[in-house]
Order: sequence, then structure tokens, then C-alpha cells
Amino acid sequence: MSEIKVLDENLINKIAAGEVVERPSSIVKELVENSIDSGATEIVVEIEKGGIQEVKVIDNGKGIIKEDIPKAFLRHATSKIKTENDLFRITSLGFRGEALASIASVSEVEIITRTKTDDWGYKAIVENGNVINIVDQGAPVGTTITVKNIFYNVPARLKFLKSETREQMYITDLMENYALSHPQIAFKYIANKKLIFLTKGDGNLKNVIYTLYGKNTYENLIEVNCSKETITLKGFVGNSKLEKSNRNYQSLFVNGRIIKNKTITAAIESAYKSMLSINKFPLYVLQLLINPEFIDVNVHPTKAEIKFEDEQKIFKEVYSCIKDALINKEYIPTVEINYSPGDINNAISSTQTSFLNDNENKTFEVSNLYKTIEKNQSIFETVNDNNYNVNTYKQDIENNTNIFDYSNKISFENVSDNFSKPILNKYDSESNNLLPKMTVIGQIHFMYIATESIDSFYLIDQHAAHERILYEKYFNEFNDTGINKQILLTPYIIELSINEKDLVLQNIHLFNDLGFEIEDFGGTSISLRTIPNNFINKNYKEVIEELVANIQSYENDRLKSIDKIIYTLACKNAIKAGDKLNIKEMYSLIEQLRFCNNPFTCPHGRPTMIKFSYVDLEKKFKRIM
Ligand SMILES: Nc1ncnc2c1ncn2[C@@H]1O[C@H](COP(=O)(O)OP(=O)(O)OP(=O)(O)O)[C@@H](O)[C@H]1O
Ligand SMILES: [Mg+2]
Repeated sequence: MSEIKVLDENLINKIAAGEVVERPSSIVKELVENSIDSGATEIVVEIEKGGIQEVKVIDNGKGIIKEDIPKAFLRHATSKIKTENDLFRITSLGFRGEALASIASVSEVEIITRTKTDDWGYKAIVENGNVINIVDQGAPVGTTITVKNIFYNVPARLKFLKSETREQMYITDLMENYALSHPQIAFKYIANKKLIFLTKGDGNLKNVIYTLYGKNTYENLIEVNCSKETITLKGFVGNSKLEKSNRNYQSLFVNGRIIKNKTITAAIESAYKSMLSINKFPLYVLQLLINPEFIDVNVHPTKAEIKFEDEQKIFKEVYSCIKDALINKEYIPTVEINYSPGDINNAISSTQTSFLNDNENKTFEVSNLYKTIEKNQSIFETVNDNNYNVNTYKQDIENNTNIFDYSNKISFENVSDNFSKPILNKYDSESNNLLPKMTVIGQIHFMYIATESIDSFYLIDQHAAHERILYEKYFNEFNDTGINKQILLTPYIIELSINEKDLVLQNIHLFNDLGFEIEDFGGTSISLRTIPNNFINKNYKEVIEELVANIQSYENDRLKSIDKIIYTLACKNAIKAGDKLNIKEMYSLIEQLRFCNNPFTCPHGRPTMIKFSYVDLEKKFKRIM
């Protein structure tokens, strides 16, 4: 008997749905794109329980005539392309005629639609992919599609969905991108009956950015409006004040379609070179217009990627548009880079690797060092206070004297006085330490502390060492009663994105334990009432954003997440390569390091010190053999 059978239509659709409908946000994507293609000027999206329970999309577009309703839910049925040639000049967002069939095969769908030539509308239910029961229904011109119980008949898929809040975040992210890519459409986005945002649809992109990202972003935008041989690039990029710790604020649209593309990302980020700190990313909202014949949109099942006919040319044109925009607005050293094809490939592949490392903290901040060197000329600092040594340091500790001189690193004007004193590690008994007593020789290169013990010479990386100290201190405090905090005299208001704020509020107790007491400040803002004790990094917004990114990326592994979060906190607050230290500060660092559980590496395994024994040195100088 033959073993090979042709599958029935419903099963084929279910299999195909796997590619199109991965999660509730895929449904929102397909429905909103259909609404945009239908010429709608107003689109309302309502979701319940992260879209898992219900997604409803209402538009005022052209509607579907009665006889086409069943066809709309058939696979490979579309009104958007007719011939093979059309495939090479696609101007609509949809073209495969697959979305509705795929959605209907994994959920329960209801459609109400009316065209402007009809006097009333129609309502239909779609069950198991088949349109049943089309009835007359009073309705305005346009289409409303309601999708319920996604994956009710594919439990394996349901299991792979994340939490409702997480699924909602994916949808919010997507909705922001539609609002940004189509400022001429009024979007209303409601989740669990709560209005998340509303855009006017007056075509003003800058106003949409204000609605989604707030005033601070709005005030730091640089306009891009540039035409080259093959592309036109329009929109806004952030100035250097808007540098971000991840790529969440990068929106690229190619002919209205939301796209991720490494060539363009690499071109934009290359144009920013030297303007942003290491491992920071620019904000951008850019629309790239290109003749559809020069691109292939049919390369990815969810249409999220495209292929350009000439990648090198696109790179050069995008790079030059962004560079011009930045040069007009910001000071950039004018060394023009003439990118050769090899350079471009390098830039793209390094963007690719850094895509993977977005949330990795790179702690070595050379740019900082150079700034200091410029200011201070000398890069070798010897100790001129010979009277200060480890014994005086011990004395200071016993007398409770302020050791860490924060005066040049933090101004306490915004911090209530009771809390301004640094809390130092208890000076434990000498038997607990893993390192010998040391004498500080001086600071080298504003990066390393040179010390000596009875038999060795040490170079200690000041940043790595401080990171280790803070990491252990924060870890202990966190596990005890929470990280010690200090109260800000005036609360500090931070504007976040919608999703970031959601995550902060959901994890408000965790932030509290980390030393950040936070309250909802309305809109997309939060207010910060406390910070961890002696927090010298005053860029609170950046710190909160980075903590949010950590929470986001380690959602599934709480333990690992806490570790990473505490590490981030330590890294953000540690003295940097390039910070000038005085003798007391150096002793304080060394002494605290000596009593760490693991003084030899930073929390990520980089060494904190290099040791040269005097015997080794003598061998090197051939004094002994
Ligand atoms: N909101 C809507 N308003 C008007 N017509 C619609 C709407 N949604 C769907 N249609 C019609 O139903 C057809 C099928 O939609 P479907 O999303 O399945 O395919 P598509 O958009 O043509 O291609 P793709 O699979 O790439 O999305 C569309 O071609 C369009 O004619
Ligand atoms: Mg479609």
C-alpha cells in the first residue's frame, strides 16, 4: 500500500502557519499590515492578555466585498499581486496571500467588513480555516478582525509562548514601529482595556517620537532628509546625548516596511564613530525609500528582512547621508573615511558580532583615559605623601575618617547629608585575607595602581579591582536586607520607553532591593527617590536602562539575572580607567581588595592584578640565573 499521502488543506495551513504565526505579535503584525494596505487612516489595536486571549484590529480602510470574504481566508489568495512580474516591484506590505489563512488555522477568527459601495456590512465566523455563516451586519466602512484563543488547537506552540507581559511587550514594540513608520495614520493601541498610546495621524513624525519616547528624546533629534542616486533617507537620528546601551531604539523602515538589516545598521553606526562612547548605540527612526525593483522582499517568511541588489552602494549612500546630517549639527573631527569594499564587509561583520554582544558590558573605557590624558598631560603619578601608609590608613578606618575622596567624583548637593558617608568594608583580621600587606608606589597611566609587598611588585587594574569590591559588597547587602541606599533630596525624574517603564514597575521590589526606590510618575516617566549608597555614577537614566536590559535578557533565569544585574551595578559605579586617584583612595582600594573573597579577578574573570616577584625581576635583569 502506498505510504505517501497528500495532506489535507487544513493541515497544510497549520504547518504553513508555523512560519507566519509564531506568537500573538505575528498576528498583530499581519492584521495591521492588511489594514495599512487597505488604505486606512485610522487603526485601532486592542489586545487582551498579551494577545493570547484576544487580538482585535479595527480599520477604516476600503473593506472587502461579500463574495471575496471566503477567498481572503484561502491560502495563496491575494488582491495585491497578479503576475510573477509584480513580485519584483512590490509596493504593498502583503503579497503572499497567506496571512489570514495561517491565522485562521490556529485560532478563532471573526470578521466584520463593509466597502463604501455597500449599504451595510457583513459578519463572518471562520472555523478551522473555513468561512461559515456570512450574515448582514450594520457597520462603518472598513474592517474589524477579532482573533481569539490563539494556538487553541496547537498546544505545543502555546507552550512556547512567554508570559503575558512579555508577549505584550513584543506587541508594544511592534505598535511603536507602526506608529513611527506611518505617522500619517492615527493609531490607537489598547492593552487589557488600558490606553497605551494614541497618535494623531497628522504626518508629523517628530510628534510621534515625542508621544512614544518623551520630551528629552524629542529635544535631541537631528533631522535626516537626503537623496542619493538610489535611495532617499528621511527621519531622525539622536545626537550624542541620546546614546543608548542597546539597539532597542533603532527603527528602520524600507518603503514603509519594518526591517532589520545589518548593512544599514553598520552604515549608520559607522557614521557615528568617535561620537558615541564605546559600546553605545545611536537612536534612529529612519525611512529608506528605494525603487522596489532594487530590492527583494521575498527572502524571509515574516517579511522582516530584505535583500538589496547592491549592498555596497546602499552602505555608502546611507553612511554619507547620516554623516552629513551629523556634521551639520555636531562637532565631528572631519577625517573622511573612504570605505573600500573590504572595509564595508568588516564593518558589517563587526556589527554582526556586536549584535550578539549588545548586553555584554565592556568595562575598558579607553576614551575616558584619553580625555584625562589630554587634560593632565602627565600620565604617571607618583605618591608625594610619603607619610601616608597602610598604618595611617588603618588608623583612619578606626577613627571612622572619610577615606574615599569623592569630592571630584560626586557632588553631594542632591543627597541628604545623613547618608553621604561611605561605608567601608570592616577591616578584618589579617588572617582572613588572600593578599599580603602592600605599600602604594603610585598610579600609572591613570589606570593601574603600582604597589609592593615584602617580596613582590604588583600592578592593579583600578577599575577591575573596584568592580570586584563593589560586586561582593552589593551581593552581600542584596542577600541580606537589600543594598544600602541614600535618599535623593529632590526625586530624579527619568523618561523611559513604554516597555522599559512597564518592566521597571513590574520589578519595583527588585529595584528597591538594588537601592533604587522608584515611583510611577505618569506618562512614560518614573521618579527615583533613592540610589545605592555612594553611587558615583550620576547618569541614573543610563543605569536604570541598563538594569532593565539585564532583566529583559535574563528573564528565564533569575539567579543568573541577579548576578548579572549586580555586576552591572558594580561596573557602573566603579572608578574608571582614566580616573585620577589620590593616595588615600589607592590605599582604600587595595585594602578593600585584600579582604575580598576573590581578590584576583573582576566578577567576569578578568585579572585585577599582575604580580612580579622580585626574584623574577632579578632573573629578568640577569642579576641572578
Ligand atoms: N483589513 C483589510 N481590509 C481590506 N482587505 C483586506 C483586509 N485584510 C485582508 N484583506 C484582503 O484579504 C486578502 C488576504 O489577506 P492576507 O493577509 O491573507 O494576504 P495578503 O495581505 O495579500 O498577503 P500576505 O500573506 O503577505 O499578508 C488581501 O489580499 C486583501 O485583499
Ligand atoms: Mg496580509
